[in-house]
Amino acid sequence: MGDGLHLPAAASTLLLAAFGVLTLLPHSVVGKPVEEENAGSSALLQRVKRGWVWNQFFVLEEYTGLEPLYIGKLHSDMDKGDGSIKYILTGEGAGTTFTIDDSTGDIHAIQRLDREVKAQYVLRAQARNRLTDRPLEPESEFIVKIQDINDNEPRFLDGPYQATVPEMSKIGTSVIQLTATDADDPTYGNSARVVYSILEGQPYFSVDPKTGVVRVSLADMDRETRENYTVVIQAKDMGGQLGGLAGTTTVNITLSDVNDNPPMFDQRLYQMSVPESAPVGSVVGRIWAKDRDIGVNAEMKYSIIDGDGRDTFDISTDPTNLFGIITVKKPLNFENKPSYTLKVEGANTHLDPTFRHRGPFKDVTIVHVSVEDVDEPPLFDSPAYLIELPEDAEVGTVVKTVSARDPDAANNTVRYSIERSSDPEKFFYIEITSGALMTVRSLDREEIGWHNITVLAMEMNNPSQIASVSVAVKVSDVNDNPPSLSHYLEAVVCENAKAGQLIQTVTAVDPDEPLGGQHFYYSLAPEAHQNIVSFSQLSWK
Ligand SMILES: *[C@@H]1O[C@H](CO)[C@@H](O)[C@H](O)[C@H]1NC(C)=O
Ligand SMILES: *[C@@H]1O[C@H](CO)[C@@H](O)[C@H](O)[C@H]1NC(C)=O
Ligand SMILES: *[C@@H]1O[C@H](CO)[C@@H](O)[C@H](O)[C@H]1NC(C)=O
Ligand SMILES: *[C@@H]1O[C@H](CO)[C@@H](O)[C@H](O)[C@H]1NC(C)=O
Repeated sequence: MGDGLHLPAAASTLLLAAFGVLTLLPHSVVGKPVEEENAGSSALLQRVKRGWVWNQFFVLEEYTGLEPLYIGKLHSDMDKGDGSIKYILTGEGAGTTFTIDDSTGDIHAIQRLDREVKAQYVLRAQARNRLTDRPLEPESEFIVKIQDINDNEPRFLDGPYQATVPEMSKIGTSVIQLTATDADDPTYGNSARVVYSILEGQPYFSVDPKTGVVRVSLADMDRETRENYTVVIQAKDMGGQLGGLAGTTTVNITLSDVNDNPPMFDQRLYQMSVPESAPVGSVVGRIWAKDRDIGVNAEMKYSIIDGDGRDTFDISTDPTNLFGIITVKKPLNFENKPSYTLKVEGANTHLDPTFRHRGPFKDVTIVHVSVEDVDEPPLFDSPAYLIELPEDAEVGTVVKTVSARDPDAANNTVRYSIERSSDPEKFFYIEITSGALMTVRSLDREEIGWHNITVLAMEMNNPSQIASVSVAVKVSDVNDNPPSLSHYLEAVVCENAKAGQLIQTVTAVDPDEPLGGQHFYYSLAPEAHQNIVSFSQLSWK
């Protein structure tokens, strides 16, 4: 075994040497000074003798030359330079990425190396006798470390970004933090040391060079003036120095709304009209207090604060919370009041105390409502009539004079009639112009106690305008029926019956209905009296 020298702690005698750009990189972690006694004559050994031994090669990544990249040399001090020693390389990438000249021990990379793909290769070296193939040295492991060059630009992996910041934010308000990553070796040089700068978006926004935090840099940015900003941020490695690689990203920044604008009615005066026939609850019209803000900051609550129509109309807010809807609260009557005035207030519901100084967040407008005349049917002077009439009233008696008039301004003449089906047997007649209702047949309470008839009133020159009213005629009783004994009686009495003994109770009925009920006076008819006498005479014989 050669007594040559050699590798650090392992006491290998196979020497690895690196040349060129990599020569003499002192790495105390992997090698340590070794007192070399048996120095050879080569430059390499000279260096070793100087005290440094290492078992690593360093090679820069991304070599782009045409020739294979020289990495270093294996050397045994038993090598007399006569070609009798054969160097062999095994391990990661041997033969594919790395080759060795088996007689000189020169190692070359034959493939491009990329630290970001593989940062180091573990290889093994052997020195054998070329003729006998006998190992001359113990196998020795060594490492090829790929050294970083700045071949990767910083990248914003999450970009492009979308961010939101409230309008009117203070200068310095943080919007978003961006992070660029650099694949280069962060432990070596500045290849991965990133500095941020803003390329687009000034003077509205700025970026912190170290942290990548984007901040507001202009006061009072107003969403209602401009909502969206495109900000371009650059990250540059080499600490931002000239020659560094740079990557950029875009941040779309949207200003979100705050309630900084009071509402304003789009009209100082609204004119609306509604037919007098509109039922309670029907919509008269909409008003809108416009608000330059959006969302909840534009939401409104409306109220009628004054005006002669404040009891007749109502206002509510539509489901979008933007519009005020005026509705009818009480029945309208053109003839009584043809127009109303409402003073309406619209107020924001979500206030932001920060902007209180921008005035009251409400506005007032006037709404004129005109009530439109509608051709209405005649109106009776009573909603229903109840009349009592004795059953012996003479035919032709005026029961009641009903009256209806056209409520419209036209005051059309009214004609009266009886609805056929309500008086099928034609007991009544109504005078067509005066409304005098009279009997045309004699009445009989015992036959029909109530005549509930319907009287119609029709406008003479517009027969479609018809009103009806119910006239209930109660026929009152007159004693016009004799009483009658309810049924034929047959009584039996024993021959030894005593005088005064009850034989039978008789009951009379009368269809009349006098006040306080019927009172009958019972007496024996004269002929019956005779019978009883004879009967008593007979029984007492
Ligand atoms: C940013 O805005 C532009 C147009 O203004 C749009 O094309 C792009 O998609 C937006 N990007 C994001 C991330 O929202
Ligand atoms: C601003 O950007 C937001 C979100 O990208 C979008 O919804 C909105 O329509 C944009 N506004 C304008 C005025 O372009
Ligand atoms: C309508 O006309 C009648 C006569 O036909 C009159 O008695 C009445 O007062 C008028 N009504 C109105 C409201 O003018
Ligand atoms: C007629 O009207 C009166 C009063 O409304 C009511 O009491 C009566 O039952 C009605 N008679 C008939 C037959 O409808």
